[in-house]
Amino acid sequence: MLKRTLPFAIALVLMSTAAHTRQAGSQSAGGANAAKAGEFEFRINCAFCHGLGARGGGRGPDLTRARKRHANSDAELFRVISNGIPGTAMPANGTNGQGVGMTDEEIWQLVAYICSVEVKAPVVPAGNAAHGKELFFGDGNCAGCHMVQGKGGRLGPDLTGVAGTRTIEAITDSVRNPSRRLAQGLMEATKEFAQEYETVTVVTSDGTEIKGTTLNEDDFSVQVVDQSDRLHLFEKDKLRSFTKSRNSLMPPYKTSLLSDQDLQDIIAYLISVAQ
Ligand code: HEC
Ligand code: HEC
Repeated sequence: MLKRTLPFAIALVLMSTAAHTRQAGSQSAGGANAAKAGEFEFRINCAFCHGLGARGGGRGPDLTRARKRHANSDAELFRVISNGIPGTAMPANGTNGQGVGMTDEEIWQLVAYICSVEVKAPVVPAGNAAHGKELFFGDGNCAGCHMVQGKGGRLGPDLTGVAGTRTIEAITDSVRNPSRRLAQGLMEATKEFAQEYETVTVVTSDGTEIKGTTLNEDDFSVQVVDQSDRLHLFEKDKLRSFTKSRNSLMPPYKTSLLSDQDLQDIIAYLISVAQ
């Protein structure tokens, strides 16, 4: 008992002196060590769903956002990690994998880690959401490939909730450098999102080439959404070729195409629909 509670007590002291003033916490030696240990735990137990660096993955939200849905204090983070979130994929400690769960000390280390990766001062976008919506469905052509609230194309992921699960920085990066995240998927534990939106190129028996993303795929057939949002169903053994690549079909929107101000307006729109 003593062996268990002693480090726990120390951890608690560290957390209460360090993590509460979170910035100080990540800078003090204790906070930094705890965060380092927490990072290790995170890779093993959490990155599968929350992505490496806690930036969000196909199965779990981005945890680098300062404002969270369920946990906005260290104590709440501890509780969420211990008890999970019933009715969601977020597992309670000890239920996800074999055998024993993490100790309290390890959970505090995870809390320290999550605090250390939080984006401290979230940029509150000064964007114009109404103009952003116009761009999204108009000149920006985002709706050609993305749905918001049931309207738009199916080639890319539905963006209705994206501002609720990813940071503004991450969304900006997706728009400016679309292929980066797909390429990252190769290294990350969380491959689901990335694989789903890999670019597929199909050449049919008569030589027609179609590029798109897959909607459904099994060993024998594949359903492809092409760049005009048309749906195709192919039997794989009838195709001349079927290849996948991690070059996103989303065009990189450089500032010459979409100014920073316009992108800010689009993000303001995405934030308004995610709430
Ligand atoms: C099987 C997938 C999965 C695993 C593994 C997982 N999580 Fe989660 N987690 C989720 C999902 C899904 C949610 C969001 C639940 C919701 O709000 O609908 C979530 C939510 C959270 C939240 C609350 C986020 C918020 O915005 O309030 C925290 C904190 C969290 N997870 C931390 C962790 C930590 C730490 C680990 C590793 C010990 C972990 N999770 C492992 C899927 C997972
Ligand atoms: C030609 C189709 C196409 C167009 C046009 C397009 N996208 Fe995408 N987008 C994709 C695909 C495919 C992905 C998934 C692969 C990737 O991340 O690059 C994606 C990914 C994204 C993501 C990451 C989503 C996530 O869940 O992380 C964001 C954000 C995004 N797009 C925003 C936009 C915005 C904003 C516009 C308009 C300015 C736009 N896209 C225009 C095809 C498109």
